[in-house]
Amino acid sequence: MKLGLLILLHLISVYADYSPLSYVDRPCGEDLTNLWLDVIAVVDNSRGMTVDGLNEIASNIASVFGFGTRIGLNASEPRTTRLGLVTYNSVATQKADLNQYQSIGDVFHGIFYALSNTVDTTESYLATGLELAEKMFNDQSVNSIRAHYQKVVIVYAATYQTKGEMDPESIADRLKMSGVKIITVAYGDAYGLMKSLSVIASPRFALSNLADSPGNLIVQIQISLLEANWLSAKMSCSNRRSNSSLATEFSQAKHDFIFNVVQNTTGFSPPYQYHVGLNYVSGLWVWTQPTGRQQVPLQKPFMWLSGNPQRSSTQSAVMNMQSGHGTGWQNIATMTLSANFICETYSCDTDNYCGA
Ligand SMILES: *[C@@H]1O[C@H](CO)[C@@H](O)[C@H](O)[C@H]1NC(C)=O
Ligand SMILES: *[C@@H]1O[C@H](CO)[C@@H](O)[C@H](O)[C@H]1NC(C)=O
Ligand SMILES: *[C@@H]1O[C@H](CO)[C@@H](O)[C@H](O)[C@H]1NC(C)=O
Repeated sequence: MKLGLLILLHLISVYADYSPLSYVDRPCGEDLTNLWLDVIAVVDNSRGMTVDGLNEIASNIASVFGFGTRIGLNASEPRTTRLGLVTYNSVATQKADLNQYQSIGDVFHGIFYALSNTVDTTESYLATGLELAEKMFNDQSVNSIRAHYQKVVIVYAATYQTKGEMDPESIADRLKMSGVKIITVAYGDAYGLMKSLSVIASPRFALSNLADSPGNLIVQIQISLLEANWLSAKMSCSNRRSNSSLATEFSQAKHDFIFNVVQNTTGFSPPYQYHVGLNYVSGLWVWTQPTGRQQVPLQKPFMWLSGNPQRSSTQSAVMNMQSGHGTGWQNIATMTLSANFICETYSCDTDNYCGA
């Protein structure tokens, strides 16, 4: 656990100093204090969980958000996280709506009380818990000022049961399709349960409390939350975000990644051709940057198609042109050729809050 935290702190200081002039793409923010999410914890409180188990979950949740994450709403700080709480057994209960906890103190007080005892039944239908979480997001987040916040469900389950039409998998699929990330934590019967829950979880987000120490589980959940915050980033040139610009290709890997994305995007077809952010300005090839930021002079690796660049002074824009199985840069006169644009924005993460 110490190691994980040290790495996080190190990264925070690196990010604060990020400059594109370093010719490396901006790494993602990993500052837990700036987490901005809407999270619902969905906790199995059937008999199988045991009182000790519930207690452990309460302290796990309190710890996950206890590293400075701002809980609740704050009119002058958009990077906050709301936390709701649902318990389930044969039925689901809303223990805290998304606006109840307005500080980490509220979480500490509320969560240990809400998770102080099990319900005397062996029935435990995750489907009921997921369904209630879905309803809470619809009622308390969608159509609100928080609509664009990444939504995350954290499931803590001691067993996996289905009953008739109550199929947790199809509800989980519906949630994931609407953009919600699901983290699952298996309590007890580790392997079989974790396997069942892995169909519920988003990729890489199926965790277990047995595999590691409690401290390790806390860090694993925190990493998943940071990743969820970052995944909400989309490669787009939205006008609403002034930090976006045409894509840079600082490395072969990025060049290949963009080509890969283009091939997977409807609206593009072979032979693939698309603009990137390389321009000839005042005798120099530079990568454009968002308004107000210094342009970045071109460095190796160069990905020019053979014969390029030609007559830079009149052909000052650059697009990627498919050539065989790859693409390469070809310089063209600005606006002479209609082609798609590949834009990028600093991804929305804990360093970079993105408005609606
Ligand atoms: C709200 O955010 C501002 C700016 O980050 C901070 O100074 C203030 O203490 C916050 N208010 C509360 C109640 O947390
Ligand atoms: C653009 O990014 C900078 C640095 O990350 C940040 O300070 C600024 O608020 C961002 N602007 C917008 C509109 O997102
Ligand atoms: C593109 O699609 C292929 C095949 O579906 C997939 O393996 C690959 O990860 C996708 N690439 C990107 C960048 O989405």
